[in-house]
Amino acid sequence: MTSPEQTSPYQNKNADHYVVWHNTSVNQQERAQLKNQQPVVLWFTGLSGSGKSTIANAVERKLWQSGHHTYLLDGDNVRHGLNKDLGFSDDARVENIRRIGELAKLFVDAGNIVLTAFISPFQSDRDQVRALLPQEQFLEVFIDTPLEVCESRDPKGLYKKARAGEIKHFTGIDSEYQVPASAELHIHTEEQTVEQCADEIVRTLIQLGYLAGNK
Ligand code: ADX
Repeated sequence: MTSPEQTSPYQNKNADHYVVWHNTSVNQQERAQLKNQQPVVLWFTGLSGSGKSTIANAVERKLWQSGHHTYLLDGDNVRHGLNKDLGFSDDARVENIRRIGELAKLFVDAGNIVLTAFISPFQSDRDQVRALLPQEQFLEVFIDTPLEVCESRDPKGLYKKARAGEIKHFTGIDSEYQVPASAELHIHTEEQTVEQCADEIVRTLIQLGYLAGNK
């Protein structure tokens, strides 16, 4: 797999010499203090149709109801705008997750609790995003729904199309999904309702101290 950075059509080899990091006068901690929370990225990963977006939306609503500052980045939505130039080849998926990682980092720097809902099928990409942030600011949330269940739900009719060969490189069919090696949260959706899954995640955030001021 080639690194998209090496093949980027926008690369300017001289840019590195003339671009200098500028520290902002208001920092992340100050922004977070105002919001009375500990900023973090909740990185939802799982198959298409596993329930990532649905559960992430339910968690965001619960956090909003309890007065927290959040932002939800969703795969299908981001692919309508920022990433509309990207398809589903391995390289395109790597670039998709790289951009989302950088975006999530900015939102978390703004002091938010960021929820991302992307298949993000490759462990190395998820690890790269993790490496962008301090350890306590990245929690991987594995939405564990077996392929058969996702396929039977098939909310967008995409599995049917993939099985018929109309969609190529479909995750779980002819493109790989790498199960998280050490996700902080492992949510089994078969045994629980959406509400229960969301409650489990919010409970964990409370237990870990993310929702009550700065740790
Ligand atoms: S990722 O693999 O690059 O992380 P992402 O989460 O952004 O994927 O987008 C996945 C969504 O795109 C799916 O929920 C589905 O609606 C749609 N989609 C279209 N084609 C594919 C495909 N070949 N594989 C997976 N999802 C696809």
